[in-house]
Amino acid sequence: MDPVRNPYAPGAGQRPPELAGREREVRQFEIVLERVARGRPERSMILTGLRGVGKTVLLNTFRSMAIQRLWGSGKIEARPDQSIRRPVAAAMHMALRELAPRHRAPERIDRVLGVLKAFAQAKTDDPKSAKGAKAGSRWQPGIDAVAVRGRADSGDLEIDLVELFVDAASIATDLGVGIALFIDEMQDVPAEDVSALCTACHELSQIGGPLIVVGAGLPHLPAVLSASKSYSERLFRYARIDRLSRSAADHALTAPAGLEEVEFEQGALDALYEASDGYPFFVQAYGKVTWDLSLHSPITADDVRVAAPEAEEELAVGFFGSRYERATPAERDYMRAMATLGDEPVPTNEVARSLDRRPSSLSPARDNLIKKGLIYSAERGLIAFTVPHFGKFLRRQPE
Ligand SMILES: Nc1ncnc2c1ncn2[C@@H]1O[C@H](COP(=O)(O)OP(=O)(O)OP(=O)(O)O)[C@@H](O)[C@H]1O
Ligand SMILES: [Mg+2]
Repeated sequence: MDPVRNPYAPGAGQRPPELAGREREVRQFEIVLERVARGRPERSMILTGLRGVGKTVLLNTFRSMAIQRLWGSGKIEARPDQSIRRPVAAAMHMALRELAPRHRAPERIDRVLGVLKAFAQAKTDDPKSAKGAKAGSRWQPGIDAVAVRGRADSGDLEIDLVELFVDAASIATDLGVGIALFIDEMQDVPAEDVSALCTACHELSQIGGPLIVVGAGLPHLPAVLSASKSYSERLFRYARIDRLSRSAADHALTAPAGLEEVEFEQGALDALYEASDGYPFFVQAYGKVTWDLSLHSPITADDVRVAAPEAEEELAVGFFGSRYERATPAERDYMRAMATLGDEPVPTNEVARSLDRRPSSLSPARDNLIKKGLIYSAERGLIAFTVPHFGKFLRRQPE
């Protein structure tokens, strides 16, 4: 069928033609926005899940919801070994610029922008903060205001974030709205910055300031947060984003096709669910190839059978292969050993046993794989792939 009209969208953070099966999370977030704007106590949300389940897409949906309610918003994508100071400054700048035109007292906006500028430029001992900056030069954040010294610029991120958030939240309070800071790949925020973020959120929630941090990350993110602050479980509501149910996966395929007057036979939907296992990225990937290779509506089970190998081939190169390529030979051995032990989380000492090595000698490979976001440990001593069906992919690879 006409590839130009193909509605499916496999890709990182690609908005799906139909956001299927996330009604509950969307409803929950509506309540969060409403309560926070009214100064009610409310926990913020953290989305967790495997690669390709739709965390980024849902985070972007949340952001659109906040913008629709005239909130200020900004988003960052955390990177390992990079302080969040500058990205947070840029995101808060964006949020304040959204609010500024509606505010009646321009001098209040200027002052908060001045605090933000000082925050962005604060000297820190932390080398992560200066990453990418020229030695000796003061970073110019492009904020059109005179830096207000003495607030949010101590260099201690914890103190500075609290002061910045409190001041920014007061602008939102004036307007009866809130500010939402979205953090994608939150498991990559450096440990000391996680701690500062939690403290700042904690402080804000105590004074009822309408500013929330909404995060998304891999399944071990809750463990990362609680290792940093034991009260993090009471600060955030964790929403585990998972595979789509059969009916949601069917809806993800049939709703956009319906708009193009294309239908699926029941057998085609059966075969597509079997192939995708309900994982949103796979739903889009198989849907896309099936559409392109089908000759006419309705799409049949045979069409899916013809398309599946091609879709698998594309996944093997793009989704799986690109990740596999990022691993060193030692790391690949580690993952292959994991794959032979099955698809559930596996004990690290069993991986060591199957490689005939001492567990401690494998720690570097394991830690690097965690850092690269290929595996995660949600429970002490257990390890699992972050990428759905990765074990299956590895077992099919020639040695
Ligand atoms: N609810 C949904 N219904 C249908 N398709 C979806 C849904 N959520 C996400 N998708 C599709 O799944 C794919 C992956 O989405 P996304 O990039 O948000 O996943 P992710 O969890 O952020 O992955 P990663 O951990 O790799 O960043 C995209 O192609 C998107 O269009
Ligand atoms: Mg993502």
